[in-house]
Amino acid sequence: MLYLDHAAGGPVRREVLEAMAPFLTGRFGNPSSVHTVGEDIAGALEDARRRVAAVLAMRAGDIVFTSGGTEANNLAIAGIAIGARGRSPGHIVTTAVEHDSVLAVCRYLQRIHGYDIDILPVDDEGHVDPDSVARALRDDTVVVSVGYANNEVGTVQDVAGIVRAAASVPVHVDAVQAAGWLPLAGTGASALSIAGHKIGAPQGIGLLAVRGRIPLEPVLHGGGQERGRRSGTQNVAGAVGLAVALELAERDRPGAVARATAARDAFTRRVLDTVTGAHVTGDPTRRLPGLASFTFSATSGEAVLLELERRGVVTSSGSACAAGHDEPSHVLTAMGRDADDARTAIRFSFDRAAPPDAAALARAVADAVAAVRSGS
Ligand SMILES: Cc1ncc(COP(=O)(O)O)c(C=O)c1O
Repeated sequence: MLYLDHAAGGPVRREVLEAMAPFLTGRFGNPSSVHTVGEDIAGALEDARRRVAAVLAMRAGDIVFTSGGTEANNLAIAGIAIGARGRSPGHIVTTAVEHDSVLAVCRYLQRIHGYDIDILPVDDEGHVDPDSVARALRDDTVVVSVGYANNEVGTVQDVAGIVRAAASVPVHVDAVQAAGWLPLAGTGASALSIAGHKIGAPQGIGLLAVRGRIPLEPVLHGGGQERGRRSGTQNVAGAVGLAVALELAERDRPGAVARATAARDAFTRRVLDTVTGAHVTGDPTRRLPGLASFTFSATSGEAVLLELERRGVVTSSGSACAAGHDEPSHVLTAMGRDADDARTAIRFSFDRAAPPDAAALARAVADAVAAVRSGS
C-alpha cells in the first residue's frame, strides 16, 4: 500500500518513540508532584519546552503544550481575544480557507460572546491579500488568525506581509501543516500552533507558542498547569516526543523539501499531461512541497479515492476532518470553485523521507479517473 495522506497524519518516528519510551515506563510520575520523582519528570518537561522554543526562536516560557492543533488554535484565538478584552467583546480577523478549528472557535466567540468576526476572502489560488488584512483592522481588533499553509490545497500565505499589515495587532499563525516544510522561526507571528502527529510525534500532543507579553485567558480551567494557561496534567512523554520530532523535522527540512518538490512537480506534470480535465488546486508553486491537489472534472472525489485504493494508493479528498460529509470543501468554494467541481477534489500528501515514484503514481491516477468516468 502506498500511503499518501501524510497531511492527515503519519507514523511516529523511531527516534521519537525511543525518546518517549522511558516516560511511558520507568520514568513515570506527575510533573506537578513535589517529590523527587515529580521533579525528575518536571525537569524532562522543561527540557522539552526549551528545545521546542529553540526551534521556534521563542522563549521557553512562551510554550504551552496542548493536546494538538485543534486545542492550540482554540486557545490562541479564544485566549488572546478574551485575554485582551475581558467581558467586552472585540473584533477578530481570519480568512475563508482556515481549518475548521479556527473558523469554529471564531463562530463560537461570535455566537456566545458577541465578538465581530471578519472572514476575509481569498483569490482563486487561496491567497489572502495582506492589504485586505490592513483594511479590515479596527480599533477593537484583538487578533488576526491565518494559516501558514493550507491543509487542503497547500497554498502558502504571505505571513510576513500579513504580520506587517496587522501592525500592532497580534497575529496567530496556524503552522500545523507548515511544520517540517517551511521555516518556523522568524515569521513575526505572535502565536503559532503545531500538532505532533503531522511531524512524526504521536497524536494527542501539540503546542501553542505565544509571546509572553500577550495576555492569554485559559480555555481549560483547573490545577493551573502550564503557568495557568492550560490546566490538566501534562502529557510529558508526548512533549518529549514533540521536541525530538520538531528538532528532527527542522534538521531534515532542506532534504525533505528538495525531494518532495521534485516528486510533486514531476507527478503534477504527468497528471496534467495524461488526464484530461485535471486541474491543480491552489498555488502551483508557492505551495507545500509535499502536497499535490487536483480536481478531476466529470468524476466524484469519493469514487476516485475508492478506485485509487483498489490500486493500492491511499489518499484523501481534502481534509481528513471534512471527509465523510457530503459538503463541498469550504476552501475550494472560497477559491471560486463551484460545489460540483469542489466535490471532485483529491489531495496527495507525501512522506518527508520517501516521496512516491511520480510516474507510477500518475499512471494509477489516470487509471482510477478513467475507471470512474467509464463507470466500470
Ligand atoms: C491546518 C490545520 N490546522 C489544525 C489542524 C488540527 O490539528 P489536530 O488534528 O492536531 O487537532 C489540522 C489537522 O489536520 C490542520 O491541518
